[in-house]
Amino acid sequence: MTTADRLTMSLGEAMFTQRAIRRLKPDPIPDDVMRDIMEAAIRAPNGGNTQQWHFIVVKDADTRKQLGELYHEAWWAKRKDQGIMGPEDIPPGKNSQRSAMRLANEFGDAPLMVLICALNKGGAGGIIPSAQNLLLAARAHGVGGTIATLHAVVEERVHKLLNIPETAEIVYCMPLGYPRGEFGSVTRKPLEEVCGIDRWDNPYK
Ligand SMILES: Cc1cc2nc3c(=O)[nH]c(=O)nc-3n(C[C@H](O)[C@H](O)[C@H](O)COP(=O)(O)O)c2cc1C
Repeated sequence: MTTADRLTMSLGEAMFTQRAIRRLKPDPIPDDVMRDIMEAAIRAPNGGNTQQWHFIVVKDADTRKQLGELYHEAWWAKRKDQGIMGPEDIPPGKNSQRSAMRLANEFGDAPLMVLICALNKGGAGGIIPSAQNLLLAARAHGVGGTIATLHAVVEERVHKLLNIPETAEIVYCMPLGYPRGEFGSVTRKPLEEVCGIDRWDNPYK
């Protein structure tokens, strides 16, 4: 049986229920499941099919712990750039920020992380679709995760930790695992608000 045959969830269900999963069980992701997910990631569209990407699947417990600490530092560095100095500055209604903050605390406990890197600085645009392929394949296997980014303040240390060449750029740093909650439906603004026909201001009907 091929990877494609194993990813049997309907495309509609995968796309409409693949939301950011930030609360993860510590249970390991089996190697064969992870292989399917990565095989799907590298099938993604990419600039000129030059595949200017490199992926790192982080499994080692000590490396995950160190990456978790660096992610925590990066997350707070990003908040400080926005004037958010601590949890007390995050308004109570900002649930996704609170949930992202919890992820920053728990990142190192994820059973696995994937770093999506571009071979060259500035090459992110050509490889970003791999992240969505990865997440959809993960969804089909019941594995959750979210796109996450780092911050310049930790860049050099993450490069060193994972032996990433200086010339490469870390695009995303994604925690993956089986969800502690449900996948559930994705909520977005209605199509007419964000899509026009023939011109910007002719709402899609
Ligand atoms: C470029 C990018 C960066 C993101 N960075 C983070 C992040 O650092 N931490 C996090 O928890 N979620 C991150 N997310 C996930 C978004 O917050 C999430 O996709 C969005 O809130 C929609 O959530 P939903 O898919 O669950 O509806 C990122 C998403 C994108 C596309």
